[in-house]
Amino acid sequence: MLPTIARDHDVVVMIDQRKLPAQEIYVRCRTAVEVAKAIKTMVIRGAPAIGVAAALGISLGMRRSTATGTQKFATEFYRICDLLAATRPTAVNLFWAIDRMKRSFAAGMGAGESTAQLKDRLDREADLIHDEDVASCRAIGAFGATVVPQDAKILTHCNAGALATAGYGTALGVIRGAVEAGKQVAVFADETRPFLQGARLTAWELVRDGINTTVITDNMSGALMRQRKVNFVVVGADRIAANGDTANKIGTYSVAVLAREHGVPFYVAAPLSTIDLKTKDGDGIPIEERNSREVTHVGSTQLTPDGAAVWNPAFDVTPHQLITGIITEKGIFRAPYTDSLASAFAQ
Ligand code: MRU
Repeated sequence: MLPTIARDHDVVVMIDQRKLPAQEIYVRCRTAVEVAKAIKTMVIRGAPAIGVAAALGISLGMRRSTATGTQKFATEFYRICDLLAATRPTAVNLFWAIDRMKRSFAAGMGAGESTAQLKDRLDREADLIHDEDVASCRAIGAFGATVVPQDAKILTHCNAGALATAGYGTALGVIRGAVEAGKQVAVFADETRPFLQGARLTAWELVRDGINTTVITDNMSGALMRQRKVNFVVVGADRIAANGDTANKIGTYSVAVLAREHGVPFYVAAPLSTIDLKTKDGDGIPIEERNSREVTHVGSTQLTPDGAAVWNPAFDVTPHQLITGIITEKGIFRAPYTDSLASAFAQ
C-alpha cells in the first residue's frame, strides 16, 4: 500500500504530493509547525489525509514539548490545535480529528495523568485515527464494489485515493474494491484543474495498481458521457452536510449535473468523519479560495495576461438531489439523506 503518511519515531513522514508523479520525495516534519505548513502548502492533501496529518502533528508537537506541569502543557496543546485548525477550512475531517485529540486530552487531564502519560495517550489516539481511516476505506471499498457495474466504465474527479487518505482511498477504494471483487474496470480520471490532482495523482495511483486508466481534461466529461463511455461516477468528499449536500473538489458539481443529464449513477464515497451533521446544508460549508497563481501559471509558465482577474475556489457543492448514494464504512446511504445520514451515526 502507498505510504501516504507515517510516524517514524518522533518525525512525521509524508510523500510530497506536489512533486508527484515526476519525483517520489518524502518530507520529514519535525515539529507541529512543519506539519501545519505541509497541510497548507499541499505536501499532503485530501480530506481524510489532512485529518490524520493534524492528529499526528498534534502528537508530534506535544511529544517534543518541554513544558513542566500539566497547565503549561495544556496551554501548548490548545495552541497547537489552533495552529493546525487554521490550515485549510473546507474538509471537516481536519476539525473532526482535532476534536478527537481534544477529547482524548481532556479525558487524560480529567484522570490526573502526568505529561508523560498525556504524551503517550496522544500518540495512541493519533495512531488510532490513522489506522481506523485505512479500515474505513477498506469497508467503503467493499460496500462500493456492490454497486459498481460488472463491466464498469468509471469517471472520477480529483484524487480520492490512497494519497488522500491514510491508505486505499475512498472513491479509488471503491474502484479497488470492484477490482478485488473480480469486476472489469476502466477508469477515466478528470485532470482536475488547477492543481491537477487527477492527472498527476489519481493516474499515478491507478497505473501503479495496473488499472486501465485514461486521463481526460475537465471539459471532456460531457462528450464522454454523451458517447455512453461512462456508466458509473464516483468521487470523494471534503464535507457532507446533514442533508447530503456535498463539498468536493471544484468541478465535481459540473460532473454531477452531466451525470444526471445522461442517466449515469453518481456516487460519493467518504468515511463518517467527512459527514458534518452540524452543518444543515451546502450553503453553510466554508469554501477555500486559493492563490490565483494556481490558475495563472503552470509551473513557472504564465498562461494569462497580467491584469486579468482570477477566481480560484478549491471546492464546489453538489446538491444532494444529484447524488445517487453516499458510500461509507457503515454502508450505502440514500435519500432522504437527512434521515439516512443521521441514522449512520446511531448504528
Ligand atoms: O484540495 P484537495 O486536493 O485537498 O482536495 C481533495 C478533494 O477534493 C478530494 O476529493 C476529497 O478530499 C476527498 S479525499 C478522499
